[in-house]
Amino acid sequence: MTDPERPIYVTSPYLPPLEEFIPYLEEIWDSKILTNKGPFHQKLERALCDYLGVEHLALFANGTLALVTALQALRVAGEVITTPYSFVATSHSLLWNGIKPVFVDIDPNTLNLDPTKIESAITPQTTAILPVHCYGNPCDVDAIQAIADNYNLKVIYDAAHAFGVQCHCGSLLQHGDLSVMSFHATKVFNTFEGGAIICKDAKTKQHIDNLKNFGFVGETKVVAAGINAKMDEMRSALGLLQLGYIDEALEQRKAIDETYRRLLKDVKGIRCIENTGQLVSNYAYFPILVELDYPLTRDALYDQLRQHNIYGRRYFYPLISDFPMYRGLPSAQQDNLPVANRIANQVICLPIYPELTIEEVMFIVSILSNIHFFKD
Ligand SMILES: Cc1ncc(COP(=O)(O)O)c(C=O)c1O
Repeated sequence: MTDPERPIYVTSPYLPPLEEFIPYLEEIWDSKILTNKGPFHQKLERALCDYLGVEHLALFANGTLALVTALQALRVAGEVITTPYSFVATSHSLLWNGIKPVFVDIDPNTLNLDPTKIESAITPQTTAILPVHCYGNPCDVDAIQAIADNYNLKVIYDAAHAFGVQCHCGSLLQHGDLSVMSFHATKVFNTFEGGAIICKDAKTKQHIDNLKNFGFVGETKVVAAGINAKMDEMRSALGLLQLGYIDEALEQRKAIDETYRRLLKDVKGIRCIENTGQLVSNYAYFPILVELDYPLTRDALYDQLRQHNIYGRRYFYPLISDFPMYRGLPSAQQDNLPVANRIANQVICLPIYPELTIEEVMFIVSILSNIHFFKD
């Protein structure tokens, strides 16, 4: 039964049975290897490469440090083209590297960087493109790569939402020079906090491994101003355990996604974001757009849901470009980003997580469809 008193949040982290984690902890306690590329760290890197279908992956303490290090690893500088429609860590990673973000508008259907608008934002200072596979929906990777090739730019994908997503040629995470993941508690696959960089060759992986360990090479040599971004053994062990449950968790998410789509199909004024061409999705988020013909504004609907104990989130509102450290940039101006500004005022991410019941989904949709009863 749906309990109307129980709050339903936008997500709830997936956790494996606690008793299964205890033997891993005992092993760590026995070995006293807590961090610095320990056995669980090494096992998780290999297991994730196998699961995701990629060749080289470096674990990180979180996705933000992974983004900061990815830019450092490729010596990205000057200006970088990116999306304003993302979590603020995407652009913050540029500022942490002394790089100027240049915001480009998004596509109204994919909500990802619009490749047709990238070229006109390129200047002699541009060195890279930092797109986001928003909500796990793939960017137009071929179009972005063609532009990068023409202008000799690096491409680093913020793939924080894209765990396990497969596109036309296998893992979406193989695209670009690097892909950066987050294993934060809110993500499809979590290690409480965590992240990773996926790269194409062993030499780059070694360089990234050095950078995440203060820039050390061996015992006495420091080759760069690296940071401490290592994932510890406890989180690595948890990741290994989580990986055993990921397929089941994805199946549960899929069922929720399908139910929302089926039930929301005929709700006038609510638009679901369509799959943007991936062959395997991860159902990480369930964004809806509240259109003009819906009886309430987006914010009024958001408030109504809260009154019914349903805590959707307005991801991504405000736009990154509206935060104080970005809004003075020429590219942050509203007339440069009409689509992103419109979408940021229309979107609500509805709850989706493995333990959300179909009954709860039906309850959420009943609020959305019967909104005229709750108006005023
Ligand atoms: C698109 C995006 N990029 C980067 C991050 C940062 O990852 P983390 O929280 O692991 O630092 C997140 C989420 O947390 C995100 O959603």
